[in-house]
Amino acid sequence: MAAARYIWIDNSLRPASEGVVPFLSAGMQFGFSVFEGIRCYSTDNGPAVFRMNEHVERLLDSAHIIGFRDLPVTADQVKTAINQTIAANEYSACYIRPMIYLDGAMMMTVESGTPRFVVAVWEWKNFLGAEAKERGIRANIASFTRLHPNIMMTKAKVSGNYVSSILAKTESHRAGFDEAIMLGPDGYVAECTGENLFIVRNKQGEKIIFTSPRAGILEGITRDSLITLARDLSYSVVEEPISRDQLYIADEVFVCGTAAEVVALREIDFRTIGDGKAGPVTRALQHEFDKLVNGRHARSAEWLAPVPALNAAAVRG
Ligand SMILES: Cc1ncc(COP(=O)(O)O)c(C=O)c1O
Repeated sequence: MAAARYIWIDNSLRPASEGVVPFLSAGMQFGFSVFEGIRCYSTDNGPAVFRMNEHVERLLDSAHIIGFRDLPVTADQVKTAINQTIAANEYSACYIRPMIYLDGAMMMTVESGTPRFVVAVWEWKNFLGAEAKERGIRANIASFTRLHPNIMMTKAKVSGNYVSSILAKTESHRAGFDEAIMLGPDGYVAECTGENLFIVRNKQGEKIIFTSPRAGILEGITRDSLITLARDLSYSVVEEPISRDQLYIADEVFVCGTAAEVVALREIDFRTIGDGKAGPVTRALQHEFDKLVNGRHARSAEWLAPVPALNAAAVRG
């Protein structure tokens, strides 16, 4: 995998070596930054960004939620920066990390700092491990509770929120699991450290898909895509609270996110889930999702934005 040669900083492409954070920034010191995780996929028509509009909208929503006022970029400028950074690095597929961080602000107010904008890209295939999609993964319930929205707002991808994700995932890994499931402050299943969660239950022969309600979670864009794909396949999808024991007795449990894509949980808290492998609904959705992101699905044109050619004027340094 080739290391990225360019990074976007403020309003131009720069050599990747310039992608460093000033030590005295609230982004660095206090985690006061917002970011996105987006994927660019290789398609027959060249590289294409999956659900670019929704990701850029969520980035700007995150900035709004944490109180940024005068942003250094518009939605269109974020999209241009993303496209140019992919094109400059000549990637056909990659992960994309736009970020707005607060530079300075040691007085601990938003107004005492300057928002800065960066886009990094890198090649990243299997976030949960090479075998995850095939075999499914093992998870446990974290001893850490997912953030309450009145403590740190879960609709925003704020860097500081992810301290709690790292605590939970590190605990899981040290205990021998692959991923942590976080319960919300109400005691019901919220989400994983970087994925939303679904369960499948057979009710009188009908397979019904359940997922946690939006209030306490990050409103995942993969989650939204899978709900649409599942309904296209005529499954009922219900958003309602899920308890820990409903996980144990589910026929299938799967998680999804931009980095992880669609992955089955084959075991939770040492209990086998269903048949201990990705079940038929998970497999069907994995299949649809793969077709979608590779440009071979009826919805691909709607959700994949082709990456235009590099504009040489954007490169500096
Ligand atoms: C806490 C959390 N939940 C869920 C997700 C999945 O969201 P998406 O599908 O938009 O990547 C992510 C990843 O961004 C996340 O960080």
